[in-house]
Amino acid sequence: MDSQKLPQFVIAPSILSADFAYLGKEVQDVLAAGADWIHFDVMDNHYVPNLTVGPLVCEAIRPHAIKNGKPVMIDVHLMVEPVDRLVPDFAKAGASLISFHPEASPHVNRTLNLIRDQGCQAGLVLNPATPLDHLDHTLELLDLVLLMSVNPGFGGQSFIPSTLNKISQVRARLDRYQAETGRHIRLEVDGGIKVDNIAEVAKAGADTFVAGSAIFSQKNYATVIDAMRAELGKSGKA
Ligand code: DX5
Ligand code: ZN
Repeated sequence: MDSQKLPQFVIAPSILSADFAYLGKEVQDVLAAGADWIHFDVMDNHYVPNLTVGPLVCEAIRPHAIKNGKPVMIDVHLMVEPVDRLVPDFAKAGASLISFHPEASPHVNRTLNLIRDQGCQAGLVLNPATPLDHLDHTLELLDLVLLMSVNPGFGGQSFIPSTLNKISQVRARLDRYQAETGRHIRLEVDGGIKVDNIAEVAKAGADTFVAGSAIFSQKNYATVIDAMRAELGKSGKA
């Protein structure tokens, strides 16, 4: 999928906060409510102290992740260690983009190449306290940088404000990279994103927004997503 053709701002609901008894319907409903991507959180009770879902569930939701007759991006966020063993399984299960944490892979470059060789887009995820040095030798293999604005492992945590400064630094770096190479790398932020802080996060330079509890805790998903888009419109970045 060509990221240049995507809307400037992407809203990617995390199904971690969805009703798992009705997951296919939840995916359909949130896309019908205006979501762009589906964010799929994989936790292994090893890299993070929580256990969620694997390739089987990704495969099960793939036929439901459709908008206007076209497949939408399933944005797989791997919080697992080790990483490589699972990459081909998720590619086969219909993942569009696979992101992982550099601390969880002994050979980051190898894992990025593995993801791309499997026909997926590749992303690197940086925790709140992970330095940006991990981007030094990896940008040419990245389609997306994912900045965590909470410590990974659970939905419903509060946004860590120091992430804003980190977003601005990565934005500057990605802009420089785009000016030099013409390649656009998306900047996604994950954790504690709500209607009342999404504009600030966009102003700092993010273009892709994961939101779990903010959307799935409400009855009407469209109301939340519309309110988020209205805030993005006011951010001055649209
Ligand atoms: C946290 C996950 C997030 C989380 C976001 O480890 O990566 O995607 O589900 O949930 P909220 O939006 O509730 O912080
Ligand atoms: Zn996530």
